[in-house]
Parts: sequence; C-alpha cells; structure tokens
Amino acid sequence: MTHRAKPMKGIVLAGGTGTRLHPLTLGVSKQLMPIYNKPMIYYPIATLVSSGIQEILLITTPQDASLFKTLLRDGSAWGIRFTYLTQSKPEGIAQALVLAEAFLDGAPAALILGDNLFHGKGLSDLLRQQTNPSGATIFGYAVNDPERYGVIAFDAQMNPVDLIEKPSNPPSTYAVPGIYFYNHEAPARAKAVTKSGRGEYEITEVNKSYLKDGALSVVLLDPGFTWLDTGTFAALSEASQFVEVLENRQGQLIGAPEWAAFQAGFIDADQLSALATPLMRSGYGQQLLKALNSYGAR
Ligand code: G1P
Repeated sequence: MTHRAKPMKGIVLAGGTGTRLHPLTLGVSKQLMPIYNKPMIYYPIATLVSSGIQEILLITTPQDASLFKTLLRDGSAWGIRFTYLTQSKPEGIAQALVLAEAFLDGAPAALILGDNLFHGKGLSDLLRQQTNPSGATIFGYAVNDPERYGVIAFDAQMNPVDLIEKPSNPPSTYAVPGIYFYNHEAPARAKAVTKSGRGEYEITEVNKSYLKDGALSVVLLDPGFTWLDTGTFAALSEASQFVEVLENRQGQLIGAPEWAAFQAGFIDADQLSALATPLMRSGYGQQLLKALNSYGAR
C-alpha cells in the first residue's frame, strides 16, 4: 500500500523566558518584541505561510497566550488556522514536537523558532520543496559565530556526518537555522531524546536520530539568503534595521503574513485590501496595498 502523506502542518515555538533580553522581556514575550514595523512572530508565521502551510500550532507560555490570541486570533482573516498550546516549563526545542503530537495527528511538520527571521528571493520555493520529506530536512548557513548554534560536521565530500550543539570547536562554519522539516516520525523521535548537559531536550538530538538512520537531508543555504536570529539586544536591533532598510529602499514587505497569505493563494485581492484598510494610519496598510498593486502590474 502506498503511504499518502497528509498536508504538512506548522509549529511556531514562542515559549521561553527570553532571559537574554531582560529587562525588555520581563513583562512581554520575546516573540512580541518589534522587528521594525511588525511583532517578531509575524516573520516566522509568514515563512510558514509562504511554504504553503495553512494549519499552524503556536506554542507559548501560559502568561503570554492571551496576548498572542489578541494579536493573531484564529487566523481565518489570513486564510489560515491557528491552534494554541501552552508550555508551562520550557525544556528545549524538541519538547515542541512532543507537545504537538496530537495536533500533528500523523502529519509531517515544519517547526520554526519564533525568533528566527528568513528572507530571500526563491526562499519560499525552496521551502515548499521540503514539505513532503521522506525523513527530515534541515539547513546549513555559514556564519561568523557557529559556536552559538547547532553546527554541521561534514566529510571530505561535504556529506553531513555529525551535528553538534554549541561546540566550543566548531567543525565547520555551517550553523543550523531554526527551521526544520520532518516526516510523521518527529514526535516519536523527540520522545526518545534525553536531556542534555544544559538541561534541554535538544532539537539537534532529533536531527541526529534522522542522520543516524540515513534519513536526514541537509540543504546548504546560499549566502544570498538572509537568516537572522533576534535573541540579543544587538541582534534585535540589527534585524529591525535590516527590515527597515530593505522595506524603505525597495518598497517590498518582509515577514508580512497578510502578503504571504495572498501570495500563497489563501486569501484573494479583496480580502487583502480589506486587511489593509484599518492599518492605513501606520503606513503598513499602504505597504500592503502597494505590494498588491505592483503585483497586479507585473
Ligand atoms: C537553538 C538550537 C540550535 C540552532 C538555533 C537556531 O539554539 O538549539 O541548534 O542552531 O536554535 O537559532 P538556542 O536558541 O537554544 O540557543
């Protein structure tokens, strides 16, 4: 019998205590911090939507859940559906896959971290290609400071041979960005992970379990793509500047879920215009309409 995969579902992890951004995040969730003109969580949501994903689970903390619900509601205005789940104690990224098991209900999963920002021409096509993985797909992105991340070790033929979380001696400059595509096995594999030395269920261990079974694909991202994480004061400010510079110079929108939903065909032009109308005073509504008009003119 041939196994027909269910449509991929998305998971955005927006839990955590954001200690590296205190006092900014003492009162409000890190993923609600502004990245220029949008709340941080818009960016990973837009990335999932541009991958063609319509069903999205948001994992937040119990104290922040109501804020996320006020901001995002059920997703229907964007042609998508949000499900909310709270995580009382953040114990590592792999825990998200275990918590998401019932939501996934056997579907493949795209897991994205709520503080990761991706941008670049052709990125949505690349991501769409990963939405029916036979095992798992992760990415590699060359950075200056790989020791801060999960890092890929390669053999001489550039085949991945190991993944190491925050190595003091990085085996390469390729860090693993916080977006992961998994087949239906991810919750079961995540359950088998034990806590690391830093007390977390590491997503790197889930990825290593696929690697061990020969079921991990590693796609190296061209430096023409941008991957930013936003977990420190400097990174947060740099991400804001990045979005500001590109949006103002090129007039394009980065990380706008409304626009991603329109491009994915989840809402039509009338629905997008209706979303823009109440957002005119800030200029965001104009940006959406401008994108829509230039789209029609292409
Ligand atoms: C986490 C992962 C790491 C990955 C990074 C991407 O790190 O553990 O493998 O490279 O996200 O942002 P953390 O945010 O826990 O430091």
